[in-house]
Amino acid sequence: MISRLLRTKPMSMLSHEAGEQGEHTLKRSLGPVNLVTLGIGAVIGAGIFVLTGQAAALYAGPAVALSFVFAGITCAFAGLCYAEFASIIPIAGSAYTYGYATLGELVAWIIGWDLVLEYAFGASTVASGWSGYFNSLMQQWGIVIPPQLTASTGTRLVLYQHQWMPVMSLPPGASDTGLPHVTAALNVIAMVIVMLITAILVIGIKESANFNSAIVFIKLSVVAIFLVVGGYFLIRHPWVAKTNWHPFVPPRDANGNFGWAGIPKGASRIFFAYIGFDAVSTAAQEAKKPQRDMPIGILGSLAICTVLYILVSLVLTGLVSYKTLDVGAPVALGIDATGVSWGSMLVKIGAVFGLASVMLVMLLGQTRVFYSMSKDGLLWKWVSIVHPKFRTPWITTTVFGIFAAVFPAFLPIERLADLVNIGTLLAFTIVCAGVWVLRVQHPELKRPFKAPLVPLVPILGIVTALYLMANLALITWEVMIGWLLFGLLIYFTYSVKHSKVQKMAKVAAAD
Ligand code: ALA
Repeated sequence: MISRLLRTKPMSMLSHEAGEQGEHTLKRSLGPVNLVTLGIGAVIGAGIFVLTGQAAALYAGPAVALSFVFAGITCAFAGLCYAEFASIIPIAGSAYTYGYATLGELVAWIIGWDLVLEYAFGASTVASGWSGYFNSLMQQWGIVIPPQLTASTGTRLVLYQHQWMPVMSLPPGASDTGLPHVTAALNVIAMVIVMLITAILVIGIKESANFNSAIVFIKLSVVAIFLVVGGYFLIRHPWVAKTNWHPFVPPRDANGNFGWAGIPKGASRIFFAYIGFDAVSTAAQEAKKPQRDMPIGILGSLAICTVLYILVSLVLTGLVSYKTLDVGAPVALGIDATGVSWGSMLVKIGAVFGLASVMLVMLLGQTRVFYSMSKDGLLWKWVSIVHPKFRTPWITTTVFGIFAAVFPAFLPIERLADLVNIGTLLAFTIVCAGVWVLRVQHPELKRPFKAPLVPLVPILGIVTALYLMANLALITWEVMIGWLLFGLLIYFTYSVKHSKVQKMAKVAAAD
């Protein structure tokens, strides 16, 4: 039995699948620029636009910039391992496929199932952040959506200066006493945006990639404008930054936040901001030259985002006191402080478009992982049915669209984000371990891209990822374990019986 669970998918089978062409397979249409764009499209999103403010205000202060360095280093180790794998095994499926080739079917199953936490719940988390920015923009334009339908169930909203906002987001010093208030029933805005993105994905990957490129351009422009306007302001008013950055590492409080220990705590929350570069690997089967372009897509998007994040967090905490940043739109608040009147509107528009592209790549990644699992016989056949005209796995796209739309309706962003973080960090540890295992078991394999210093880099990847996981709350661990146990139930009742690799092994044994 144990040997069955450890059975790996032969490299020859993977290479064969990577070379398949035809009406019922995915189209190869993406080049290196598309892939870096796809990565940035997935990466810059609710993490920088929403969660940075929370991490600065609650855990790390201005030292949130160091949290970004810490999380960025963790991602770099994992990114190098992803890049090596993606160059060897350039087919859709991401960490799942890599796990199958190296650590065996059971681990592959766990990782594939775990990726739902990253991709589907990731889309849910971003939808939640998106609804905050969208609603705030609409209100700025005088369009009022019934507040009960704009936030997750139970969120208390107050009417402050003609805007409905969560009580938590009131500026410091403002009191909610006497203000009109309602309790949110359901975040309908988040549900609608997920369904719209799902419709785009069903229509097709090429259209989706073009849509994505346009949005990434807008998103990068907004980040650049924030850096230029904010940076220029700080150069002209250096005492503002001096005051706000002092102390750079605020003293530890009674809850154990801030101080040096606050930096990794902040890192485990803003880790979310980096998630997505690995989604590039799920598009490997749609890449024209995957061996060369996958590492470029993964590492290129990661490097660009790391630099931008460190700069944005420094400028943001320089412009306003970190204590004021626990709001739904911290970056808009930051640019407001420069006195540039059009700034906050621009940031909100950028976030509305930018976060949409993140959801797109997340849902794309989700469907591609399940597509691969179904092709391997580990999930039901309907999961990999490709639409004859659109050439996309339309049934699974629709099912996951509905799945991802439901959660932000009920749950707040930070609960969803932490779940995504733990799921992704688990995937990172398995990928790092897999690279090392494969180097030992198959040293002869052609590796168009090689991670440096193996096994040191994979070991550091594993240790740093586990450390960030250890900084997350117990409830997050419990939900993840519950989710994985539910997955194992499906594995042992369905997948073991239908696995193609197991069937092949049986035939080989009978011959
Ligand atoms: N990194 C992505 C974001 O921040 C998931 O929205």
